Amino acid sequence: MAERADLLIFAGKVVTSNGASEKPLSGEKLSQIEVISEGAVAVKDGKIVAVGPEKEVGEKFPQEQARRVIEAPGKTLTPGLIDPHTHTVFGGSREEEFALRISGVPYLEILKKGGGILDTVRATRETPYEALLEKSRKHLDRMLGQGTTTAEVKSGYGLDLDTEMKMLQVIKQLDREHFMDLEATFLGAHALPPEYRERPDDFIDFMAEEVLPRVAEGKLAKNCDIFCEEGIFDIEQSRRLLRKALELGFEIRFHADEMVSLGGAELAAELGARSADHLLKISKEGMQAMSEKGVVATLLPATPFTLMKNEYAPAREIIDSGVAVALASDFNPGSCPTHSLPLVMTLACLQMKLTPEEALNGVTINAAHSLGRAQEIGSIEVGKQGDLVIWDAPNHRFLPYHYGSNLAETVIKRGRVVAESGRLKEGK
Ligand code: NIG
Ligand code: FE
Repeated sequence: MAERADLLIFAGKVVTSNGASEKPLSGEKLSQIEVISEGAVAVKDGKIVAVGPEKEVGEKFPQEQARRVIEAPGKTLTPGLIDPHTHTVFGGSREEEFALRISGVPYLEILKKGGGILDTVRATRETPYEALLEKSRKHLDRMLGQGTTTAEVKSGYGLDLDTEMKMLQVIKQLDREHFMDLEATFLGAHALPPEYRERPDDFIDFMAEEVLPRVAEGKLAKNCDIFCEEGIFDIEQSRRLLRKALELGFEIRFHADEMVSLGGAELAAELGARSADHLLKISKEGMQAMSEKGVVATLLPATPFTLMKNEYAPAREIIDSGVAVALASDFNPGSCPTHSLPLVMTLACLQMKLTPEEALNGVTINAAHSLGRAQEIGSIEVGKQGDLVIWDAPNHRFLPYHYGSNLAETVIKRGRVVAESGRLKEGK
């Protein structure tokens, strides 16, 4: 029997993973992608109700009855992109540091001298709630305009109770008000604030005993993160905070093995983390352990690019070891000021040698797994949310290939057109 769709889209190519909602794609499967030429997708009540060749979908959901029809001949339809690692809420900006780094001063050196993350901490503490809200909203607008329909957003530029709470409230309000869906992560241990100079253990105690319980009480974040890095927080401090987070019901995802091989990947496996992120310096043992425990490796190639490193996460080795790989922007004011997941895909291909198919799965289905949301989003399959992007591209390989312009022509959230050619529609 024919049914009425709220939205019917016809596209030159419909491109998605298929059947990977239970388990993230890993190994050779990471390149599995289904391409339906002259395909169609029907959405009803915000959910995908049909996907397949035009004729098949049209029989069940006839064009004449659909509330809205979009024809995109010669264009490519993919799932809405998912960004599982961002620091979108912050005060100020760091273009002075950008110039300093170009002149040769290293990122961690700048932080040690009280700049870098701590600059942003000062600015974020000083920025009133409303201003922070509007600044963050603008960032989300730009992400959405480039095809990102869901993002994880971290706190971590407060490093004190009030500012961390302020950031998490901003994330919560934006999750309600913005077209994008947001996942909040508490990153209270992002750096050591000046008040705790030389006392990192006291700071971890403060975060674990005073701040984390308040975050849990207010249901302000689902996940807990820490910057586990030499000179920031060591493995023992990370273990202590993350264990407490587990006790309080948080899921774990954290900055691991970015600059120095500390054993962050091993710790992620030990704690049953959902994801370990960055991993430029991951050890072989770390890969093995993550593979055994099913921890997703969320790789962020735009960060070493911005930090002018000639080194990227060993993605091919990570994939060969059986670890599922997702990609994220790491959007933040210091080490990675980009909103663009298509650019991340380009860098993943050119610098980490991912295939275009692996890169697409990295920002869709595996990114959904990285956030524990693969049952709802990340692929174009019946029953999933109608989060979709029509790209001004003849096929999916064109996306990472043709970088530097916004190819996202129509962005759709729960079956509703929310952005066209980078411009947002009014009102949620
Ligand atoms: O993922 N590594 C720590 N945190 C961010 C950088 C934040 C900043 O520089 O403001 C990152 O790169
Ligand atoms: Fe980060």
